[in-house]
Amino acid sequence: MKLNIILIIFVFLFFSCEKTQVKKEEIPAPEDYVLVVPSYFPKIIIPDDNKPTKAGVALGRHLFYDKKLSKDNTISCGSCHLQQFAFTDGLAKSVGVGGKIGKRNAMSLANLAFLPKNFFWDGRSISLEHQAIFPILDSLEMNNTMDDVLFKLKNDNNYRTLFTNAFGNTDITNARILNAIAQFERTLISSNSKYDKFLRGEYTMTAEEKLGLDLFYIHPDGNEIPALRGANCGDCHAGTLQTDFNLRNNGLDLNQNIKDAGLQKVTGLASDKGKFRVVSLRNIELTAPYMHDGRFKTLEEVLEHYNEHVLFGSSSNTDVLMLASNSPGSLPQNLNLSPKEVKAVIAFLKTLTDTEFVTNPSFKSPF
Ligand code: HEC
Ligand code: HEC
Repeated sequence: MKLNIILIIFVFLFFSCEKTQVKKEEIPAPEDYVLVVPSYFPKIIIPDDNKPTKAGVALGRHLFYDKKLSKDNTISCGSCHLQQFAFTDGLAKSVGVGGKIGKRNAMSLANLAFLPKNFFWDGRSISLEHQAIFPILDSLEMNNTMDDVLFKLKNDNNYRTLFTNAFGNTDITNARILNAIAQFERTLISSNSKYDKFLRGEYTMTAEEKLGLDLFYIHPDGNEIPALRGANCGDCHAGTLQTDFNLRNNGLDLNQNIKDAGLQKVTGLASDKGKFRVVSLRNIELTAPYMHDGRFKTLEEVLEHYNEHVLFGSSSNTDVLMLASNSPGSLPQNLNLSPKEVKAVIAFLKTLTDTEFVTNPSFKSPF
């Protein structure tokens, strides 16, 4: 009996000692990074195996701004995705390592946490985690290998600390690099534009902005407001982020003149020629030039396209949602907005500018 008690006490002491010992060596689990999302936004996409933590986001931010990710240490993700331009670069086509000119216009990284599919202009990537390796390996962008990235990061003491804080030990792996970058990118939420304030009842739009909003979201058949012809934009640029996340052809070129096949490169289907992602128009005032090839320098030129130059007919894949009427079989046609209406749509587009987003210190380079 006595022996039993002693044994129990011994066992208890042994385990409690062991426990405290383990605790001493244990690295505390990194604190969660809480993403603040407005109620009127679409569903946020966070993979179960890559929940954002403060340390993970901090690591991702370092990686995003680190030129070591490129072959010759001259270019970071942030070189083509500049915060001041809502994470675009102001160029028609991006410039990569060695001054090589890329194939497409840099995309904004605002609110990508809400994009469920179709990353890139041609939709070829499925998630942020999956996307980040493309620019590292692309010969016209960072032109690097993952072996070189791993080699450089493993020889950097600062990264040993950053990886340990984020993932519990010093192992530096491809998956951890891509996950951390994705964690940082998910924090790039833009939700404080005039339009957001309007949606929250904190801002009254001017008459011009309100006319633009109505025109933007209303179909030309005037279903919603019979007296008003619409600009038809919201059929594709749907919802509070102005995108339905799909790939469509918005009538820029006839099929025979298309230089970049877009979705056709991914699916091989002729019917997908010239289809590109319907992008969010958040911060559009700051992300010129426009379209996948940066062909339009101003929003006025964009509106001119939709109002007057939409191409359609048997030699185009122009989307049915470019139809100016809901009736099936009707031909796509130009919008015929008056100059005043065009100005109003542009005034609405400018309410999507979020100056807090482009100046937020937590999105700046840590270097
Ligand atoms: C040389 C310029 C350049 C560099 C460097 C670069 N990007 Fe990009 N980024 C682009 C271009 C151009 C596109 C559009 C490419 C396409 O659609 O084919 C793009 C697209 C993206 C997209 C897709 C956005 C969307 O809406 O689908 C993400 C995300 C992205 N880049 C993140 C990154 C990250 C992360 C890095 C660093 C690892 C990076 N980029 C480095 C130019 C660049
Ligand atoms: C049929 C669907 C559709 C409709 C309707 C539509 N768009 Fe688009 N929009 C797109 C697609 C697809 C793209 C990308 C096209 C490309 O780059 O080739 C785009 C691109 C844009 C861009 C450039 C985005 C960037 O980052 O470069 C702007 C601005 C824009 N649209 C505004 C509008 C406005 C304003 C309207 C209404 C007058 C409108 N769109 C109507 C599908 C549509």
